Amino acid sequence: MKWAFVAMDTEKEDTVGGLQKLRWLLALLRAQYWSYQNSHWKVKGGSFYGDHLMFQRLYENVQVQTDTLAEKMVGIFGIDAIDDEDLLGMFLYWNERWDSAVDCLHKRGLLSEDDIQNVIEDTYDTLKESGQMTLGMDDFLMAMASEHETNTYLLRQTLRGKTAMQDWTPLKKD
Ligand SMILES: [Fe+2]
Repeated sequence: MKWAFVAMDTEKEDTVGGLQKLRWLLALLRAQYWSYQNSHWKVKGGSFYGDHLMFQRLYENVQVQTDTLAEKMVGIFGIDAIDDEDLLGMFLYWNERWDSAVDCLHKRGLLSEDDIQNVIEDTYDTLKESGQMTLGMDDFLMAMASEHETNTYLLRQTLRGKTAMQDWTPLKKD
């Protein structure tokens, strides 16, 4: 019988970087929750109500993913996995990146979706190569990537309509 075994000690973790990548992913999800809920409140224009509900769908999904990821991290690596100070800095990094790179709420969402696909893939590869992947984490990361592809679809289609109508919500006040 082949026994799968998960690395449980943080010392080994530090040498391969899998846990650190999971932290970046967790912080990204929390930043995305923040971003999408703010968009839900701020969006305006002719398609306000559809946008308002779409952003609600996005932040509610992200909230569930955030909770699942954090619980998996603690379950596998212990409570130090979600060190508050580290996560706050990472959270701010993602927020600033998205705010400074784009000019509207929908584009901010799309950039965050591009980022999460890259981070999920990078995290997945690292966990796999270092032997730190569990079956549950593997399944979760795959499913999350798929759900975020749907998010990209929703945002992209909505933005296409807005561009045609010149009806988008600026990220900052004029
Ligand atoms: Fe609301």
